[in-house]
Amino acid sequence: MNKTALNISLFFFHLFSILTLAQTGLVTQKAIVVSAREEASKIGVEIMKKGGNAFDAMVATELALAVAYPVAGNLGGGGFMVYRKANGEIGSLDYREKAPLTASKNMFLDEKGNVIKGKSTESPLAIGVPGTIAGVFAVHKKLGSLPIEEILKPVIALAERGVIVTKKQENQLKNYHEAIVKVNSANSLFSILFKENDTVKYLALAATLKRISKNGRDEFYKGETAQLLVHYLQQKGALITMEDLAKYEAKWRTPITFKYKDLKIISMPPPSSGGICLAEILKMIEPYDIAQMGHNSTEAIQVIVEAERRAYADRSVYLGDPDFVKIPIKGLISKKYLKQRMSNFSFEKATLSSDVKEGKVTYKESTETTHYSIVDQFGNAIAATTTLNDGFGSKYYCDELGFFLNNEMDDFSVKPGTPNMFGLVGNESNSIAPQKRMLSSMTPTIVEKKGKLFMVVGTPGGSTIITSVLQTILNVSQFKMSMQEAVNAPRFHHQWLPDIITFEPNTFDTKTFENLKAKGYIINEKITPVIGKVDAILILPNGKLEGGADKRGDDTAVGF
Ligand code: DON
Repeated sequence: MNKTALNISLFFFHLFSILTLAQTGLVTQKAIVVSAREEASKIGVEIMKKGGNAFDAMVATELALAVAYPVAGNLGGGGFMVYRKANGEIGSLDYREKAPLTASKNMFLDEKGNVIKGKSTESPLAIGVPGTIAGVFAVHKKLGSLPIEEILKPVIALAERGVIVTKKQENQLKNYHEAIVKVNSANSLFSILFKENDTVKYLALAATLKRISKNGRDEFYKGETAQLLVHYLQQKGALITMEDLAKYEAKWRTPITFKYKDLKIISMPPPSSGGICLAEILKMIEPYDIAQMGHNSTEAIQVIVEAERRAYADRSVYLGDPDFVKIPIKGLISKKYLKQRMSNFSFEKATLSSDVKEGKVTYKESTETTHYSIVDQFGNAIAATTTLNDGFGSKYYCDELGFFLNNEMDDFSVKPGTPNMFGLVGNESNSIAPQKRMLSSMTPTIVEKKGKLFMVVGTPGGSTIITSVLQTILNVSQFKMSMQEAVNAPRFHHQWLPDIITFEPNTFDTKTFENLKAKGYIINEKITPVIGKVDAILILPNGKLEGGADKRGDDTAVGF
């Protein structure tokens, strides 16, 4: 392309960016659900219209995503949820998967201590004990208001009626087809290559949900469903037993809370690294006036990247399952420590992460976890992120029960210093042990301003989850964007190792890259991942609710 043509195309690109940025998402009066599929958002809203609260809507949305969004929505995975009740009470639920009882520290290594490629991601040993059903039932028991049968009814109806395949889903299914066929029989539901506008009916899943609706949580962990699941898993060579299922429990945990300027942030504690890393990064950048520096300006990128680098380095050493390792949470997020942590940062030159060997990273182009945000007509709010880890998890699909199983074991540090699927390195704190939960980056987050609910936010994106949530909060609070603009805005990411800044492709000025390179930053221009797929809600000054549904996916806001 010659220079003039390049300038013209850049002009149109910028014009397009400005036009698409100047946007407001769906604005509703009372209640809203923002999730990865319209079908799921609609079912959540339907429950609230019937008088249900955000917690009832959470159960419905989570399970509707298991039907309508099988790449990440699940019964065979796990997640985290942060809530804030209308009266200001807060809490969080950990329904993360656990390592089976017979898991062991070196289970993914050969005799020489080398990592066996693919064993923690593509083998039946990759599957952790699922937590989703325990999670939704724990929420329902503590905070729900409608009967479970009423909540599950539209979900079961959706599974029976079927879900229409979107273009994006067709591509996703195509990308993963070979891997899915490899571990499932030719007659398996997902061995069919579905196309856009096909309707997929989930009859086995509907039957499973009916049994769960009738018999409750224990149906999945002790009942017929448990028996069918264990039979399937053992046949495939997984470690999970009836005892593993029976022992599984979702856990209420105290959220990580901290102040950033005039905001109070409420986020997920370990075994997610989300809340602590978000706190570290925001506290490290707090002394800098990034609003003055400008959105995505070289200086603002520098400050954020340097804070991210330091937080992710801490993540790799200190964080793991709090039931197994002692985590110095207070120390890590203290003002004094974080001030000291940034003391060697200079605007002149990048701090390099290179005293530790660079990890190899295999970013993928799709997003495979899923986040949804809900505010109800009573003022309760929930942020929930749920995952199978990789797209369609381990790819093992139990046809009899109608769901995919996770490959969450890869989120453990399978060997100190060896990067996982997202290039994250870990250490002893996140080593494998029976019954232990693997460290996560999922960051469901609620923000308060002046003591009132202000924002509900979260996203998929593996290691980029934390930095996407961070940028969304900054976009609204510092750069004064609407919720939809904040979600749309181009994002970047740094995670200490590998020592590179990844930018969303074709969204940043090349001048910014040149400035950064001149200061010693390594720019990742080749790998082109989607950085997050944020679904968020902003409470507007007039009390109305604005949904920000990420157009990088099929995400949709629905409300009333
Ligand atoms: O818990 C975690 O951090 C990961 N298992 C999340 C995976 C994910 O977000 C995949 N989507 N890109």
